[in-house]
Amino acid sequence: MSSAGKYKDVCTETVARLEARFAERFKNAREAEKAVKTALHQITGAFMTPDELKRARKLLADETLPPEQALTEALRLHASTRERLPHIDAFYGALLDGLNPKSLLDLACGLNPLYLGARGYSVRGVDISGGCVSLVNDWAAARGWDVSAECRDLLCDPPLHEADMALAMKLLPVLEQQEKGAAMRLLRRVPAAMIAVTFPMKTLGGRSVGMESHYSEWFEATARGDFDILRREALFGELCYIVRRKAG
Ligand SMILES: C[S@@+](CC[C@H](N)C(=O)[O-])C[C@H]1O[C@@H](n2cnc3c(N)ncnc32)[C@H](O)[C@@H]1O
Repeated sequence: MSSAGKYKDVCTETVARLEARFAERFKNAREAEKAVKTALHQITGAFMTPDELKRARKLLADETLPPEQALTEALRLHASTRERLPHIDAFYGALLDGLNPKSLLDLACGLNPLYLGARGYSVRGVDISGGCVSLVNDWAAARGWDVSAECRDLLCDPPLHEADMALAMKLLPVLEQQEKGAAMRLLRRVPAAMIAVTFPMKTLGGRSVGMESHYSEWFEATARGDFDILRREALFGELCYIVRRKAG
């Protein structure tokens, strides 16, 4: 399974983790493999397909396009950055307002580091999508940005780079879906004093199903013991928090 076509670029730790989990749950190998594929689709494939990755790579190589246009078109190819695109400058302006981080640790980064690198931030990203990671690295190298990403599974406790601030954008529900308690386990070990945590307020299909109240109740109750919530606001359809680790 690990080398199967559509998911061949996914972090091998993730595939092994899911294979072990579903081998326990299903006696039948085919059913187990199908469950692994469904899970991989839900946690990574749904956000960017291999075809979209190929198109993004073409944009990087297209010397006829102005660089800013190529970047915008590439960001449109990942579901999470696509949702932010119509208001992305205003979104980040408000999210980071007054905080002035120079370096960012972007957890489950998708293509976010490309936007941030173009705006002059130093970024270290982590994601299980090998396709996104190599695109980020190649694009950043071509533009000379201080941006790099690693293909690692955040549930396997990889080493994390220190930064002025960490980003956990639209990530925590995806982690909790994979392992209950994983979200807070990760946030507690993030080596940055402040973390921007965001949640989607609509499904990938665009439906509003009470996600804002559901996620805010869960997050505020769960984070309160370890973090001070400095800010909470809904920015352009994304529920955003800035939290700081409690002293001591
Ligand atoms: C909803 S997208 C968010 C992407 C980005 N943070 C953003 O907001 O633009 C979720 C991302 O989490 C990644 N992901 C899912 N499970 C992960 C894990 N266990 N470790 C690292 N990345 C993971 C997916 O590949 C996907 O890029």
